Amino acid sequence: MLPAVKVFVTRRLPGAALDRLAAEHDVEVWPERLPPPREELVARAPELEGLLSLLTDAVDAQLIEAAPRLRAISNYAVGVDNVDVEAATARGIPVGNTPGVLTDSTADLAVALMLGITRRLCEGDAYVRRGDWETWEPELLLGRDLHAATVAIVGFGRIGRAVARRLQGFGCEILHTSRSGGVPLEELLERSDYVSLHPPLTPETKGLIDAAALRRMKPTAYLVNTARGPVVDTEALARALHAGEIAGAALDVTDPEPLPGDHPLLDAPNLLVLPHLGSATHATRERMADMAVDNLLAGLRGEPMPNQAN
Ligand code: DGY
Repeated sequence: MLPAVKVFVTRRLPGAALDRLAAEHDVEVWPERLPPPREELVARAPELEGLLSLLTDAVDAQLIEAAPRLRAISNYAVGVDNVDVEAATARGIPVGNTPGVLTDSTADLAVALMLGITRRLCEGDAYVRRGDWETWEPELLLGRDLHAATVAIVGFGRIGRAVARRLQGFGCEILHTSRSGGVPLEELLERSDYVSLHPPLTPETKGLIDAAALRRMKPTAYLVNTARGPVVDTEALARALHAGEIAGAALDVTDPEPLPGDHPLLDAPNLLVLPHLGSATHATRERMADMAVDNLLAGLRGEPMPNQAN
């Protein structure tokens, strides 16, 4: 066995994966519910050899530079937009991620959001709890159908395709666009009843859904985001919802994240917001932990990570 090294894990993870890491290495797990403050990460940097980070931790060039012994970064997410992958690569540090295992859970949630916003599930629940349910009414809380609708999938990777597969069962017409082709974004926005976002966050996709894009959508259409918050221009979305330019939005991810309870976006009508729950099932989060630990163990052994983003 290799000598134990200093590994920092920025939060407790579900399942037993961290026990495997601790069996081989000198591991510190940040014990709090909230992420370690920046200064805590920086304070550990000089001794750090392995880092298991979450999407809430900024693993930027400055942190990487402050950690001269760092040999492996494993991110507990498929997205690695919180890691400066270029800076890590320049130092020869592998960056691991967790693709695949969360595809189906995230796709399930995207469909749940579509149904949730269009069939007004949260409004209906609140209505009953307020004691407003007095009778069955022909026009109470009417929504729109998902079955047979035209659904745009923006970003046709693993998760986008998994959403498309599910919606085939709903008899939907699927349009998609991605870096490698498909229907041009403008046309897709104009034709669709639902626009579901699935691209990674990159300089090209930041602000992709801006005021102009929202104006192209039908006034009866819904926007669904389970990708990354900054793909949507938050202010433009709030304005579009207030102006009735689109029928509604259902967001699992927001910009900023977390979205404060008094954020102006929350005053917008026809909005459903979740706290980034795409992969939040017991099985998926445990599998992600296993993958993240496997990546880190391999990286620290100097072997290629089973899932490496660089
Ligand atoms: C990811 O993995 O990138 C998700 O956003 C969180 O599971």
